[in-house]
Amino acid sequence: MTAASIATAAYIVAALLFILSLHGLSKHETARGGVTYGIAGMTIALLATAWLTAEGAWGDPQASLGLVLLVVAVVVGGTIGLWRARVVEMTGMPELIALLHSFVGLAAVLVGWNGALYDTGLTGALADIHHAEVFIGVFIGAVTFTGSIVAFLKLSARMSSKPLMLPGKNALNIGALVAFVVLTVWYVITPELWLLVVVTVLALALGWHLVASIGGGDMPVVVSMLNSYSGWAAAAAGFLLNNDLLIITGALVGSSGAYLSYIMCKAMNRSFISVIAGGFGIEAPRSSDEQVGEHREIDAAGVAELLSAASRVVITPGYGMAVAQAQYPVAELASRLRERGVDVQFGIHPVAGRLPGHMNVLLAEAKVPYDIVLEMDEVNDDFADTSVVLVIGANDTVNPSAAEDPTSPIAGMPVLRVWDAENVVVFKRSMASGYAGVQNPLFFRENAAMLFGDAKERVEDILRAL
Ligand code: TAP
Repeated sequence: MTAASIATAAYIVAALLFILSLHGLSKHETARGGVTYGIAGMTIALLATAWLTAEGAWGDPQASLGLVLLVVAVVVGGTIGLWRARVVEMTGMPELIALLHSFVGLAAVLVGWNGALYDTGLTGALADIHHAEVFIGVFIGAVTFTGSIVAFLKLSARMSSKPLMLPGKNALNIGALVAFVVLTVWYVITPELWLLVVVTVLALALGWHLVASIGGGDMPVVVSMLNSYSGWAAAAAGFLLNNDLLIITGALVGSSGAYLSYIMCKAMNRSFISVIAGGFGIEAPRSSDEQVGEHREIDAAGVAELLSAASRVVITPGYGMAVAQAQYPVAELASRLRERGVDVQFGIHPVAGRLPGHMNVLLAEAKVPYDIVLEMDEVNDDFADTSVVLVIGANDTVNPSAAEDPTSPIAGMPVLRVWDAENVVVFKRSMASGYAGVQNPLFFRENAAMLFGDAKERVEDILRAL
């Protein structure tokens, strides 16, 4: 059996493991197994690729240099990756993921350029296909690269989360796409390098513009959309490198990312096309972070009293719980209340936090039983029968203006209807707005009270008072 056929067999096994991994990751009970499958698949893929390179390098000085470069790249990249993965805070994950997507995009651009500069010796239709692959790969890769960098900057608050509203932004995006199609045909007919330079610059600008035009509230969809783009960029690189595993893996990432974006758009009542087209058709939102009334404050002892008299409590966590790392005292509070016979549930909004499943991961970490962690639709109708809702570091996901104010930038996004409950306690440090930059009228409702301070410290105060 040749090295190539063993590698092909290894690639098929790795591809199957990636499919099992995706399947496992779709439910929290099986997520750990999903991660293990993914690691096993990636290890097999890396070993097979390294072995193929080593086999080809035997006695060939140029290929030996390739092998040395491969080892150096894996050692340097692996060391940086391990270090980042160990030190990253849970709240820093989304921006790290966005940055990693940008690497995939950059790699696809480099592979595309390499494909253009390297003489393949192909002629006729095969050469035309090769040129189209180069051009499309560079385009998708460059859009992913700058788009992901903007997402990284926005998610890490190095850039404002407000949408960039250039005049004629829709015409700019459509113009760029039309130019790409024309340039692709031109490049296939006459593959001149300057055309590749033009499409690279065009795609870099388009990626930047697409993501800069998206407002904070729609960022979750953008992250999963860039995940999808990075998959397609990897698949394009796979065609150029003639690597089946890269094509399969890229297609898996591309299609699962696209499907996740679609699910999230549905959950947030957003148009999929509008979001992937850089906020296509969305008008500039009016500025709405002014305060709209008087708020009431409560202290930890007051909340403990409310909870002591409660029969049903719902906890709706958000990004602030992740920042404060409050999941452990929150889990303890839930278990103490349950011991006293109180019916306690968690209501999780699909985009609470900064990445899909963010709250579920934190609560699982703090060993909150899965059966009391419910999705938004499962709790929304029961708020009216709830004595106390504890809104722990959530803001946009419990904002009534999404449901009641059609001019709000987050209008139409389904939210947790916490205001239907008898009492709502909002844990946050100030009256600042949430990620979407929109003021929250919930804070000024009669049945709502603010408990200011770090969520972890305040929950610990309540535990003491109880
Ligand atoms: P946000 O609307 O972001 O609000 C979080 C609140 O937590 C802030 O108002 C902040 O108020 C408070 N907070 C921060 N640190 C705190 C601490 N240490 N203790 C107590 N409170 C603290 O949160 P959300 O309701 O979870 O909504 C998520 C938002 O992020 C949505 O707009 C969503 O579209 C967007 N987003 C989501 C994702 C995904 S996939 N989930 C990805 C990107 C963006 P103070 O500063 O006053 O304390």
